[in-house]
Amino acid sequence: MSLQAIIYKEDRLFVLDQLLLPHQHKYVPVETIEDSFSVIKKMQVRGAPAIAIVAALSVAVGLKNLEEGKDAKAFVIDSLEYLKQSRPTAVNLFEAAHHLQSVARSVDPSSVKQKVIKEAEAILDRDLRDNHAIGAAGRQFLLNHYKGTKSKFTILTHCNTGSLATSGYGTALGVIRALHENGNLEHAFCTETRPYNQGSRLTAFELVHDRIPATLVTDSTAASIMSKIDAIVVGADRVTKNGDTANKIGTLNLAILANYFNVPFIVAAPFSSIDLNLESGSQITIEQRPSTEMITVRGPVVKNADATEFGQEERIHIAAPGINTYCPAFDVTSANLIAAVATEKGYYTPTEDGFSFEVSDESV
Ligand code: MRU
Repeated sequence: MSLQAIIYKEDRLFVLDQLLLPHQHKYVPVETIEDSFSVIKKMQVRGAPAIAIVAALSVAVGLKNLEEGKDAKAFVIDSLEYLKQSRPTAVNLFEAAHHLQSVARSVDPSSVKQKVIKEAEAILDRDLRDNHAIGAAGRQFLLNHYKGTKSKFTILTHCNTGSLATSGYGTALGVIRALHENGNLEHAFCTETRPYNQGSRLTAFELVHDRIPATLVTDSTAASIMSKIDAIVVGADRVTKNGDTANKIGTLNLAILANYFNVPFIVAAPFSSIDLNLESGSQITIEQRPSTEMITVRGPVVKNADATEFGQEERIHIAAPGINTYCPAFDVTSANLIAAVATEKGYYTPTEDGFSFEVSDESV
């Protein structure tokens, strides 16, 4: 059975509470726009595509439950304006919001409900299809890059970009899955991804679940294993017009390592992660996260006396009390460190003038 971060069926929306993984597998209902804002902000659901899908589907659920006589167009526009304030860095949320708002503005008022629901549901279906194509594009880049000198690759990845960050299959983890499915994966390494540990809690969980040969390393181990690594593959929260890429904090470290060790550094992302409105990475807003995510970890999972419900969350402090903290959620890797951007339209490689996303360099 494949892991599902988002369940949307019979007009109801649920997200797998990723704060509880890997200890508990529990879905929480998203019934209102406020619920949607909260699960995104608290990172019960996270990952650029998943955030956008949940925002879009929560609007669809809201429309289905909208009271008779309420203004559907205003509901769509206002809800999405609000949801855009949940997390600032990943462009997918803004792109989905812009699309649904334009639909609501452009169609006849009597068909807003039906058209917006249809478009929101299409985002979910399209994402799964695109992820398989991204996986194929990333695999093809590697085969072409190594020109037949290698058919099995050892890949290092960062953060979580798999089924838990998307509608399924994943982007960078989708490349690893595509390699594995085709007998081209030697081994996968995933970093812990401090401070929030998306690597050790979520990516490791997916790799074990899918029986993909993999090893977890601390973020600080990356340099010392580079001689084993054939490529670093990561996802993206926002790629600007010139190819600069915002992704999980620590991605820049890995890109510098890849370039030092002459290993290709690949970004795998849907085309909707490319923000052609921004010229370069310096224009990307980087989200700051609360210091609790750095200075505390979740405590032991204790069951209540009746052993049916889990008890109150307890957090353990792992830093000296009183220390100042700095917790950016993302960093920006400049385009000159990136060998390829794999998308559902194929992969893009830079020319002397850098990346151009208008046309695909090669198709898969
Ligand atoms: O803070 P998160 O967990 O939402 O950050 C996730 C990442 O940085 C992912 O690498 C990115 O969103 C791509 S997910 C396919």
